[in-house]
This record gives sequence, structure tokens and C-alpha cells, in this order.
Amino acid sequence: MSDSILVLEGVRKSFGTRRILDVSKLELVAGESYVLTGENGSGKSTFLRVLAGLEDAEVDVFNFEGKLIDLQAYPRWLRHDVIYVHQHPYLFRGSIVDNIAYGLKARGLAASACEPLVKEAIAWAGVRDLLDVPPHRLSGGEKQRVALARARVLHPRLFLIDEPTANLDAEARQQTMKLIRELCDANATVVLACHDREIIELPHMHRLHMDNGRIEAQSSHAAEV
Ligand SMILES: Nc1ncnc2c1ncn2[C@@H]1O[C@H](COP(=O)(O)OP(=O)(O)OP(=O)(O)O)[C@@H](O)[C@H]1O
Ligand SMILES: [Mg+2]
Repeated sequence: MSDSILVLEGVRKSFGTRRILDVSKLELVAGESYVLTGENGSGKSTFLRVLAGLEDAEVDVFNFEGKLIDLQAYPRWLRHDVIYVHQHPYLFRGSIVDNIAYGLKARGLAASACEPLVKEAIAWAGVRDLLDVPPHRLSGGEKQRVALARARVLHPRLFLIDEPTANLDAEARQQTMKLIRELCDANATVVLACHDREIIELPHMHRLHMDNGRIEAQSSHAAEV
């Protein structure tokens, strides 16, 4: 199990009497990419948000790179290593550059060190021509690309990406797909919640399927028992 990035056991969450998550065991292998499919309301976003420490859940075991984590006290270093990208990313006031640089600055990186990283992220996401546009005026696809750049510039170990191509037109979709393919080909581990056949069918993608809060693995790299 030395190459697992995450081993989970017993993840449960309910709203009122309704059980939303009931994952008994799941292992993610470092550097691999996973697609999480499932019907609307099956629990995909909730699951990703629990992994990112954005929602509470009962969790028996959360082992990240060999370290047992108490999710109630989600440690700061884990917030650096695990980044969630929302389906409808929130970009704050200021500029695109401010949005992409925010996380680096929050980590105490000097402006001179941030600058080349932000520049590189802007080029990667193909948003250089948009830098003068106020973030709230960007299209859905443009926001999605800025959000992916904002996540990637932090070099997390685990990307949790929620429906990155939903509601995009053909061109925006292809631009986002290019970024997704590159993230999946790089060294980090990626989990993508989606209904998008093109993402599901990407080479080397492992498939997880959520059904009423339970995850069924459909590849040899992840298994629920
Ligand atoms: N705060 C909440 N209170 C009550 N129920 C909630 C709350 N948040 C989510 N739910 C319910 O949890 C279930 C799982 O929602 P979730 O958003 O995780 O599904 P999903 O698989 O991401 O769906 P989609 O494919 O539509 O994005 C849904 O039935 C939803 O209504
Ligand atoms: Mg969802």
C-alpha cells in the first residue's frame, strides 16, 4: 500500500434521517486519475467536499500518504495538499491575477516569487488575453479555466474537481478538456466528478461509480469492500 495517496474507511454522512454517504472502503493510488460518476443527487459533490474538509462527516479512517488524519481537525498542511475545484467556481473581486495569486500569498510567498508562478499558470490556462476583464464578467468556461489555474499554481497532491465541463459550449469544453488532460497526465492524483463521456473515456482513467452514497470501483486500482 506504499503508493496509496489516500485510504478511506467508513465514510458516513446523513442529512436528517437520509443517508447521503456510506462508503465502506476506498483506496486511491498516487499519481492516478479517477472519474466519479453517478446519478444526480447520488452524493458525488458531497463526497469530494468531505475529502477537502469543507463538510463534516463521520470517518473511521482517513489515511493520507501514510498519515492518519483526524478530519474534524483538518490540518493546515492537508489543505495545501488537497484542493477542491467547485463546479461553479467563485472568483472574488479584484483581478484574475489576484485570484490566481491568492493562495500563494496566503501561504506567505513573497510577491517576487509569486509572479513567475502566476504568469506560468495564466499561460497554461490560456487566459492571458482576459487579464483586464473583471472576474465576475468572465464566461462560465473562462471562470473554470481561471479556477483550474488557481488550483494548479498551488501544486496540490490531490485535485478534487467537480463537473468541470458541465454547461460549457463546445469550444469552452475543448479548452477545459485540454487542461483536464494535462492535469491527469502530470504527477498529482486527480478525482473528477462528472457525467462527461469524454472525461470518462480518457486513457488511464479509473472509474468509480457512486450509487446512493456508496462507491463501487470499476478498476483494479481502487476497490470498495
Ligand atoms: N445541506 C443539505 N441538506 C440536505 N440535503 C442535502 C444538503 N446538501 C446536499 N444534500 C442532498 O444530498 C444529496 C447528494 O447531493 P450531491 O450534491 O452530493 O449530489 P451529486 O452526486 O453531486 O449530484 P449532481 O450530479 O446533481 O451534482 C442530494 O440528494 C442533495 O439534495
Ligand atoms: Mg454534484
